[in-house]
Amino acid sequence: MTEALSPDDLLDFGGKTVVVTGAATGIGKAVAEAFAAKGARVALLDRDASVAQVAASLGPSHLAHIVDVTDEPGVEQAVGAVTDAFGRIDILVNNAGIGPLAPAESYPTADWDRTLAINLKGAFLMARAVAPGMLARKSGRIVNMASQAAVIGIEGHVAYCASKAGIVGMTNCMALEWGPHGVTVNALSPTVVETELGLTGWAGEKGERARAAIPTRRFAKPWEIAASVLYLASGAAAMVNGANLMIDGGYTVV
Ligand SMILES: NC(=O)c1ccc[n+]([C@@H]2O[C@H](COP(=O)([O-])OP(=O)(O)OC[C@H]3O[C@@H](n4cnc5c(N)ncnc54)[C@H](O)[C@@H]3O)[C@@H](O)[C@H]2O)c1
Repeated sequence: MTEALSPDDLLDFGGKTVVVTGAATGIGKAVAEAFAAKGARVALLDRDASVAQVAASLGPSHLAHIVDVTDEPGVEQAVGAVTDAFGRIDILVNNAGIGPLAPAESYPTADWDRTLAINLKGAFLMARAVAPGMLARKSGRIVNMASQAAVIGIEGHVAYCASKAGIVGMTNCMALEWGPHGVTVNALSPTVVETELGLTGWAGEKGERARAAIPTRRFAKPWEIAASVLYLASGAAAMVNGANLMIDGGYTVV
């Protein structure tokens, strides 16, 4: 029987340890900052060395680890290093991702392979690496960054859409297998978010048309995605498992 939480404790992460991938910038950085502000110890993982400055800016209880999430031995080593430093990993946020765009009929194979490797295989490798500890403790939260592209087609996004639909499928399966053992696994599906990735892909006239098609008439802010990540990782969402939370201003209901 799960203990009831008081409203004050719903989003308290004091004493919790979190791993966020792709934490050097954008959504991942906002997620790391939000967890740190709510009392968690955060391990910021990224292939970009600038992640060290981001971790340092959060304070001494946080750490950075430079790793490419597609590198299986590197992922195992990163998870081992964070576990050694923090004692355990309570929460994993699989956020690292890329989105090279091209028409489907001429989509380069190399970009397809890179997109699937980072967006989907990387999330799998990370989840597989943290799962044994979580399952042994019968406690854990995994939040996987999908996208509205997981559930709709978007021009130029053939590999991205496939990778994010894969995230939702992977999330369903892990939720089913690990839910009975105290580990919830959920996905998030934002619309365009105002980060370098989002604003590069949706600049100018194309961006204006996209904003106009979103019922809330705007793109999301990184902190708005972070807020939903914290919710799914919190005790408040203990009964939410295998969900794909749309944070799209209503875009996909149109
Ligand atoms: N920005 C959007 O519009 C939007 C919308 C929906 C979903 N998303 C998803 O949110 C996540 C973050 O997007 P963002 O907009 O913050 O992107 P971003 O480009 O601003 O940041 C992505 C981060 O991931 C890191 N990264 C990339 N490949 C990596 C690898 N192989 N190993 C480790 N780190 C790696 C980058 O160095 C970078 O720090 C992605 O999964 C993206 O698909 C973004």
